[in-house]
Amino acid sequence: MQATVQAQPNIALIKYWGKRDAALNLPAAGSLSITLDALHTRTSVRFDDALADDDIVLNGKRDEAQTRRLGAFLDLFRTRAQVDTRAHVESTNDFPTGAGLASSASGFAALAVATDHALNTNLTPRELSILARRGSGSAARSIFGGFVEMAAGTRADGEDACATPLLDADEWPLAVVVAITTRAAKATSSRDGMEDSRRTSPFYRDWIATVHADLVDARAAVHARDFAKLVDTSEASCLTMHAVMLSTRPGLVYWNAATVDCIHRIREMRRTGTAVFFTIDAGPQVKAVCLPEHAEAVASALRDVHGVEEALVSGLGAGARIIEADG
Ligand code: PMV
Repeated sequence: MQATVQAQPNIALIKYWGKRDAALNLPAAGSLSITLDALHTRTSVRFDDALADDDIVLNGKRDEAQTRRLGAFLDLFRTRAQVDTRAHVESTNDFPTGAGLASSASGFAALAVATDHALNTNLTPRELSILARRGSGSAARSIFGGFVEMAAGTRADGEDACATPLLDADEWPLAVVVAITTRAAKATSSRDGMEDSRRTSPFYRDWIATVHADLVDARAAVHARDFAKLVDTSEASCLTMHAVMLSTRPGLVYWNAATVDCIHRIREMRRTGTAVFFTIDAGPQVKAVCLPEHAEAVASALRDVHGVEEALVSGLGAGARIIEADG
């Protein structure tokens, strides 16, 4: 049986940076995100008795390390389905991969939903979120659309560390302008970077301790559609996470000059009445979250920033879903 799934990246407003269990990919704290609609991952999975090994093609290339990582992820499903069949996987992104645009979130969410369908395991969205998390912590959130909250959970087996939807995309249709300042892949992956922060940043414990209150605030802001409140909490969460990154040894500097210029440009626009705030992940791209009526003005202001290669406008989108299947 085969299935093709589309999933979109999500952008955290309350950030996830640090694990309580690295093997099971259990976050040390919760997070809150919005799923985008303008960037897409498409993943096809087909199990084939004739295959001796998994055959995994990502953006047109086969790569040994990625094949091992994705093969281990497929094993989680094979174990549940009690099969040993190998799979053909083909996945493509229509945006830069590994550059701080959450390609692992959409990638593992799409792979989880496609594999579930191809193996006929019939998992619930909650179970899919738990399994997607094993591939990448943020992937648990891309199973759902709109506004999504990820729970850290307390169980050692991670069965309560999953995402749940808060609001659908059309219940508060915000826009996100993604300013791309480089297409190069980042030097340190989130996976390695957050472990380094946990081990070496003197601020790590304090950072984890701030997340609960930020989540309470952000959740209330989302339910009340209170943009001003979301501005405050989201920028604080982003900058506190980057303070932890900077204080890691060796320091993780994900920003470039254009990243900093975009921050100032966004704050300047806010001072003059535009409802917009920034958020930045483990990379130099800047995501400006705004009301849809301001999206074009924000995009054009960011395109004027020296070093910004492109500014894409996205709305909020749906969760991972099957677009083609048979068998
Ligand atoms: O799930 P990962 O390993 O891609 O880590 C995501 C980390 C950040 O993007 C920096 C923050 C987040 O919550 O998405």
